[in-house]
Amino acid sequence: MGHNDCVLNIPYPPADVKEKNLYYARLLLNNYAGQNGEMTAITQYLYQHLISEECYGELSDSLECISIVEMRHLEMLGELITKLGGAPLFRTQNRGRNIYWSGKFVAEIQNPRKFLIKNIEAENVAIRDYKMRICQISDPMIQNLLERIIRDEEHHITIFKRYLAEFEKSE
Ligand SMILES: [Fe+2]
Repeated sequence: MGHNDCVLNIPYPPADVKEKNLYYARLLLNNYAGQNGEMTAITQYLYQHLISEECYGELSDSLECISIVEMRHLEMLGELITKLGGAPLFRTQNRGRNIYWSGKFVAEIQNPRKFLIKNIEAENVAIRDYKMRICQISDPMIQNLLERIIRDEEHHITIFKRYLAEFEKSE
């Protein structure tokens, strides 16, 4: 699998909103900088990219590519949050309390087979969270963008499963 196979050739709809809505902004902060949000995905995959570079070059390249896609997601969510009237800071807000994003959200798993299993779980959680937002947010422009992001996350699962199958074959 080559370096750029992680990018789907489907355009993103514009990151636009119908009108300001602070409640929607607060919901999206969870996908942006919550424990299972995009900020965690970026740094988790970047960490895995770095530690696998020497012995698992191809996997390492894919992880870098996926990390960059997650950063694009972070940027688009940040645009939505800003247009909704929220602040694109790396934190979530719960009953008036700010919970800041933390490096503690990044798991220290170093074994590729183990982190691939963890990544598949994390992507499934991300998809579940986006689906919940689509039900909670009645703004078709936001819903369209979240649907498109879900397609990327599904594609990441396909890639991770492919690598996992290779590892299981070679054992
Ligand atoms: Fe993502």
